[in-house]
Order: sequence, then C-alpha cells, then structure tokens
Amino acid sequence: MHTALACILLLGSAVTAAPKSMFLFKDVLQSNTTALTTAGFNTLLIFRIGLTDAGDLVYYSTGGAGEAVDAPVVSDGAYTGGTTLSDKIRSFKSSPGTLVDRVEVSLVSQDTTFQIIRDLRCGPRGNLDALNNDDEGVYDLTSTVAFAQMLGGMGLQYTIAPYTNRAFWADAVSRINNNTQQLLDHVYLQVYDGGAGNDPAAWQSALGGMKIAPVEWVVNDAKPGEGTSPAAARDEFVRWFAEGAVEGAGYWNDYDVEKMGSSYTEYGAVLTEVFG
Ligand SMILES: *[C@@H]1O[C@H](CO)[C@@H](O)[C@H](O)[C@H]1NC(C)=O
Ligand SMILES: *[C@@H]1O[C@H](CO)[C@@H](O)[C@H](O)[C@H]1NC(C)=O
Repeated sequence: MHTALACILLLGSAVTAAPKSMFLFKDVLQSNTTALTTAGFNTLLIFRIGLTDAGDLVYYSTGGAGEAVDAPVVSDGAYTGGTTLSDKIRSFKSSPGTLVDRVEVSLVSQDTTFQIIRDLRCGPRGNLDALNNDDEGVYDLTSTVAFAQMLGGMGLQYTIAPYTNRAFWADAVSRINNNTQQLLDHVYLQVYDGGAGNDPAAWQSALGGMKIAPVEWVVNDAKPGEGTSPAAARDEFVRWFAEGAVEGAGYWNDYDVEKMGSSYTEYGAVLTEVFG
C-alpha cells in the first residue's frame, strides 16, 4: 500500500476559503465537468473511495442510469485506474474557466475503510487537497486522529462530513487541531435526511467555535421530501450565515442535479450570492 493514492496526488495545495461545495456522487467520467467547474463551486468532493479486505482501493460511484460503477484504482500498491480517470480529476482545478481550487476524496465507513485505515500509506501530496472523512458508523477516535495526522504529515488537509454523534466529532476536532495547526479545516455538516435536525450553531458551539459548512440535498426523486431547491437552500444559508455559524455551504449531490435536470448554475449562484 506504499504508493496508494499516489496516482491522484500531484500538485496539491490546500486552500482554506469559504467552501462552496458539491459532492460528486455521479461517476466523474460521466458527469458534466464543464458545468460543475464553472457554476460557482470552489470545492468538489469525489464520493467515494473504499478499501477492500485485500487493502486495494476502489472508486465506487454511480453511472448516469443509476448503475453502480466500481473502478479499482489501486491494486498491490500500484495505480490501476487509467489516465482517463487521473486526467479527469486533475482537470477539475485546471480546465479552462474552472472556479474549483480544492478537490477532496470522501472515505466512508461502510466498507470497513475506517477499521483498516491505520494501515493505509499514501504517496506524496498532489492534485488532491484533502481527504474527507464521512464516517457514519465506526467512530474510532484513535485511528481517526492517527489518520488525520498522517495526512497532515503529507501536506494534506482533513475534513469531516458528520450527520450525527456530535460528541465523537468534538473529541476528534479537539485532538486533531491545536493553536499551531488547523489540520481539520472544514466541517461539511449534513442538514438533510438523518441529519435534518442539525443546527449549525449548536455544532459550532460543540466544536470549539469552528464555523460550519452545511450541506443540503438537492432536489431528487430518491427522497423527494429531503430535496432542497436553490431558493429554499438560499433561505437557510442566509439565516445561518447571519447567525455567524457558517462559513460556506454546499450540496449533496451532482447525480441528482443531472438526473432531475436541475441547474448547477442556480445552485452555484446561491453560494456565490451568500458567501461571495
Ligand atoms: C453541461 O452543462 C451545460 C451547462 O448547463 C450545458 O450547456 C451542456 O449541454 C451540458 N452538457 C452535457 C453533455 O449535458
Ligand atoms: C498540532 O496539530 C498537528 C496536527 O494534528 C500535530 O501534528 C502537531 O503535533 C500538533 N502540535 C502540538 C504542539 O500539539
């Protein structure tokens, strides 16, 4: 596993600005890159990379017809994802007219990622700015802190996408960050579905005053009641921003934007209007 992720780790530079984010649930080779990079989002989060029991890395995503797309990207420590994929990821920050200056990869817990993450060793920093911890079930403090610090040693930032278990995340933030370094620099708080009741101000208070970047679910047909139009998202973001609780915001996810024929430009414009 010594060169895991080395494929996409080129030329990275962590930027801490107000996040205007979009989670990329759709296969990055199938989604509309031009629209995604020019709509106003400055942060794209590739969802998701998982670890197999053998220690290989797989990019799990969803195709345009809703089909699961599993693409092995690292096997036996060597990149196997092909240049089409690595070029696509590199293009997020370099394509003409792009407004994106930060790319993250989400890791989730379901595929035992967080049980064996302590064994992961990555290559030098690069075209990726941060790893996003979307742990929704394991919540192991020791390995979480160790992994964050390992990433910090590689020059990568660390972010979280919590929906519940505020006490765990408060512990993690207090152990990972200190007066000299804010390694964990953004909190993409889910405010939909299981996290629908989340109040950014309450999270800010629990996390030692860290500002929050809430994530709304765009209009979708999977759980229509959880979907948020650009206008409704704007109202929420304006209210929370006025409270001083949020630094930026974003959306889950691009697959639904494209499936429902919604507009990246409209969702992006809300973020630009509220957060600059
Ligand atoms: C990508 O989005 C842009 C802007 O919304 C649109 O003009 C273009 O047709 C889309 N391309 C594809 C392949 O859907
Ligand atoms: C501050 O936090 C960073 C990142 O977690 C860590 O590497 C460093 O050792 C910490 N410094 C102190 C003085 O605790």
